[in-house]
Amino acid sequence: MADDLDALKNNTLTALSEARDRVQWDAIRVGTLGKSGALTGLLKQLGQLEPEERKARGQALNRLRDELTKAIEERGRELEEEALQARLSSERIDVTLPVSSTKAGAIHPISRTIEEMTAIFGSMGFSVAEGPDVESQWHNFSALNTPDHHPARTEHDTFYLPPKAEGEEPRVLRTQTSGVQIRTMMTQKPPIRIIAPGRTYRADHDATHSPMFHQCEGLVIDRHITLGHLKGCLIEFLRVYFDKPNLPVRFRASYFPFTEPSMEVDIGWSKATGEIGGGSDWLEVLGSGMVHPRVLANCGIDPTEWQGFAFGMGIERLAMLKNGIPDLRSFYESDLRWLRHYGFSALSPATLTEGF
Ligand code: DAH
Repeated sequence: MADDLDALKNNTLTALSEARDRVQWDAIRVGTLGKSGALTGLLKQLGQLEPEERKARGQALNRLRDELTKAIEERGRELEEEALQARLSSERIDVTLPVSSTKAGAIHPISRTIEEMTAIFGSMGFSVAEGPDVESQWHNFSALNTPDHHPARTEHDTFYLPPKAEGEEPRVLRTQTSGVQIRTMMTQKPPIRIIAPGRTYRADHDATHSPMFHQCEGLVIDRHITLGHLKGCLIEFLRVYFDKPNLPVRFRASYFPFTEPSMEVDIGWSKATGEIGGGSDWLEVLGSGMVHPRVLANCGIDPTEWQGFAFGMGIERLAMLKNGIPDLRSFYESDLRWLRHYGFSALSPATLTEGF
């Protein structure tokens, strides 16, 4: 390449690398490739040369023009990017609020208890099922073999809601999580092993009852399921949950419309001191039984082929017993002092290594 072209190339590249902004860059671009730019001027002079010389010089000039055009474009993009980054960092606004307190939040005892139950039953092969809070009377009562005249259906206990469409029955705020059994059996083929923790509602309000509370339902359906499985499963759960390997557990005959036979489950405790597992008193903690054949049939499951057991427990009740919480109403008062006292650290999740 001729010396003057070399010089033009080097000068332009040096100037480009020294350009600090788009204004300086644009001056270089115009000064090189613009109408009266250095390179444009050289191209114009081509016409005055002899044909032989013109050809060689023309090729060299074209190569140089391509090279410089590319270098100019590249540097232009670089400067644009630098300008953008500079703007982004100088115009940055911190929209976060300063931390007003060093106190960390806590996990509510209800959430924590649900996590613990899920971890324990999860280790036994149960998965979690859910259902709606607003339920049909069929799912909440009829499919569960609860007769029309059953006292639980009276307005006194149950919150009724307007029907979905005219001519349909009123719906209910579910009074128990047992309806999730029905929903699960209607949509899943056995074998089934689920728990269903969730909110339930009853028209009741005093120190031990709240119009909204939580239950955890359990359902196992398989071939050859016996009362022995029910007992083994619940004894294991209660001993792990209360972290008492020798916790006395008693099964007492009872009645639920959806199980036959039905049993109330009691744990040993001391009425005088409140100690779980100590003393000689019994405390009822949950209801259970073998799924009634009619409930299976209502869900299209053949009771001669499949059997199962079910259980249901109050989450507040189990949380109160384990954590020494005296009043049910305090769960829903959002009193920060209470939440800080009874809440759990988010950093101590209810993993399976806890409680065992
Ligand atoms: N649904 C019952 C209640 O609210 C609890 C219960 C008892 C659930 C026995 C069950 C069961 O699944 O088998 O009192």
